[in-house]
Amino acid sequence: MLDVRPIIADVGYGRADAISPIARRRAIIPPDKLTDARPTNVGRPRAKGKLMNPKYPNRIHLAHLPTPIEPLPRLTQELGGPELFIKRDDLTGLATGGNKARKLEFLAADAIAQGCDTLITTGAPQSNHCRQTAAAAARAGRRCILVLRGEAPVQTTGNILLDTLLGAEIRWAGARDTADVMAEVAAELKGQSRQPYLIPLGGSNVLGATSYVLAMQELMGQLEAEQLHLDFIVFATSSGGTQAGLVLGAEVYGFQGQVLGISVDHPADAVQTQVAALATATATHLGLGTLSVADRVKVNSDYLGEGYAMVGEMERKAIRLTAALEGVLLDPVYTGRAMGGLMDLIHWGAFTAGQKVLFWHTGGTAALSAFADKL
Ligand SMILES: Cc1ncc(COP(=O)(O)O)c(C=O)c1O
Repeated sequence: MLDVRPIIADVGYGRADAISPIARRRAIIPPDKLTDARPTNVGRPRAKGKLMNPKYPNRIHLAHLPTPIEPLPRLTQELGGPELFIKRDDLTGLATGGNKARKLEFLAADAIAQGCDTLITTGAPQSNHCRQTAAAAARAGRRCILVLRGEAPVQTTGNILLDTLLGAEIRWAGARDTADVMAEVAAELKGQSRQPYLIPLGGSNVLGATSYVLAMQELMGQLEAEQLHLDFIVFATSSGGTQAGLVLGAEVYGFQGQVLGISVDHPADAVQTQVAALATATATHLGLGTLSVADRVKVNSDYLGEGYAMVGEMERKAIRLTAALEGVLLDPVYTGRAMGGLMDLIHWGAFTAGQKVLFWHTGGTAALSAFADKL
């Protein structure tokens, strides 16, 4: 069995002899408690999709769907916990792959319907969302302007390289708020009689989240075909669109397990509030009325380490182990951290051996080379 104990000691909470917040919390939280969220709702009867009637907006075809579900037998054996599976949204295509391909099918369709000629969005320098937005713009014959946080790096690597190959124009925000820079770029374009379409961080609005309602429908069809019962879905959560869609989809299509987001950047409370609000807004947008799924929103933020995009021993181990045992590449910022968190939860006995856990791979591997010296 893999000993993940060093991970706990190495996540970078200061002095080597200090007790990390993770370890301190562990001392008082029973191992079967995955989050500090509300009580479990496993097994609670839920309305089925056929009883609800979501009215889906138009989309264009950008992603290769359905993405496969694969077993992870060697990782399962190595970790000695629940049976592990993986949903390969890293294979969606659209300039490699990732969760934004699904979201952009709806966002790009909306931009086209509104007669927009330029997609503008924002993110971190190694943003996967920005790279896939650049690809979606190219596919839709639109211009793309990316407002990236901070200053231009010395070397053009990973997603930044792909952004430029995909024809996107990059504006570096420096110390400025990216929302201000986006608004400025939009005003500049309007002044040139162009029609900008602004996509929020991570594509996380009702249209982006809608794509993951449908991803849950896709998953439910696959589970039924394979006669597979899942106890948990675990994945990386950040701007919340993926999780909002998955929890709403779980409600609409009757998924009986738990949907657990591992936060990569924000405290659990903040992510839960954001996800619940977006899921509710998405339900309204799909004509489902005032459906609340707040009790389904579960977030664990025990694995923030030294902060967003700071690769530590936990991510490194998770990436190396998953690659070496299963031939599956994870990314340094999102899926590496989420898989590291899942491995740690397994180590602490959060799941029983008979349970089935699906790791939803959300992509990001295009960033790997940019983190070469950390991996
Ligand atoms: C690879 C990857 N995984 C997960 C996420 C998080 O998805 P969301 O922003 O919908 O929470 C992102 C967001 O950028 C991502 O790039």
